[in-house]
Amino acid sequence: MKAILFDRLGGPEVMYPGEVPKPALRPGGVLVHNRVIAVNFADTFFTRGEYIVRPVFPDIPGMESAGVIEAVAPDVTDLKPGMRVACIGMGTYAEYTLIGRSRVIPLPDFMSFEQGAALPIAMLTAWHMLNTLHTVRPGDNVLVHSAAGAVGIAAVQIAKAAGARVIGTVSSAEKAAIARQYGADEVIDYETQDFAAEAKRLTGGRGVDLILDAVGKPTFARGLICLATFGHLILFGRAGGAPGPIDPMKLFERSLKVSGFVLPHIYSNRELMRRGLDDAFRLIREGRLTVPIGGTYPLAEAATAHRHVMSRSSIGKLILMP
Ligand SMILES: NC(=O)c1ccc[n+]([C@@H]2O[C@H](COP(=O)([O-])OP(=O)(O)OC[C@H]3O[C@@H](n4cnc5c(N)ncnc54)[C@H](OP(=O)(O)O)[C@@H]3O)[C@@H](O)[C@H]2O)c1
Repeated sequence: MKAILFDRLGGPEVMYPGEVPKPALRPGGVLVHNRVIAVNFADTFFTRGEYIVRPVFPDIPGMESAGVIEAVAPDVTDLKPGMRVACIGMGTYAEYTLIGRSRVIPLPDFMSFEQGAALPIAMLTAWHMLNTLHTVRPGDNVLVHSAAGAVGIAAVQIAKAAGARVIGTVSSAEKAAIARQYGADEVIDYETQDFAAEAKRLTGGRGVDLILDAVGKPTFARGLICLATFGHLILFGRAGGAPGPIDPMKLFERSLKVSGFVLPHIYSNRELMRRGLDDAFRLIREGRLTVPIGGTYPLAEAATAHRHVMSRSSIGKLILMP
């Protein structure tokens, strides 16, 4: 089968198209024929050896796709060949991916393969931060960093659906328009404006109740400044670099909370997975949750897609066609 491979650590330049054997079924495994593959920002960390899962060379990048089940292991009894599914698991930049049962999500009829590939990680990450790690309430002020990216757009829509007032940050006027289009009430260009001062101003000096931060170094410390009393900052990525240490007294002074979040902790909990999927699918069905496709590339051009997402010019999700 065709796949994108890499056999040394590095940026987009280490990836190359190649041929590898189709994966063999293992107990608990589901073999999926990928129709659409999603690019995640974390894929760029994986090829550099900076993701929580380390590559084993030669390895295949990718952690999200949608397609049709080709075969299931004998101990997988609730999924059948021919079913349309989404996958969250390693090695999706390929024609076929072998995936553990708990990482396979049957796709409802109303979801295309494009949305099936583009939404799972973004919607589950956003949903569980807003509903599991935090409980977003009507009227809350929620600040979403990089609000025109895939997770950002999903977070804006889910927070709005919960009745929150959403303030997005973005790095360009084009992205500001996108964030507003998907429901952000206010948008701050954090390249040209001090987002913490703006967030304070937009909340009449009170500050925001929740910040979703996957930028890290440039935003984390300033975020603490613009949290309201009892405010909560969730760090879930580091696109701009890892943040420095924090002074716990800064939390103590205003009863603040700082959390971290990584989605893989949700997969192993069937009940949490079910709650997130049920509610996110409801929002999709009601037309209140979607992610725009900001670029479509042939699988062989995965390196170009990585350069695009790293350039900060991408909007929504980039996808690869095998
Ligand atoms: N913890 C988890 O389980 C989890 C799950 C999914 C994603 N994530 C994280 O969430 C973030 C969003 O993921 P995504 O796949 O949806 O990507 P994305 O938002 O589509 O792209 C990343 C965005 O980060 C922003 N950014 C800020 N500083 C940057 C820099 N120095 N270089 C590049 N980008 C920078 C850019 O938006 P602006 O131009 O508007 O600043 C860029 O568009 C990533 O940091 C990712 O690692 C975490």
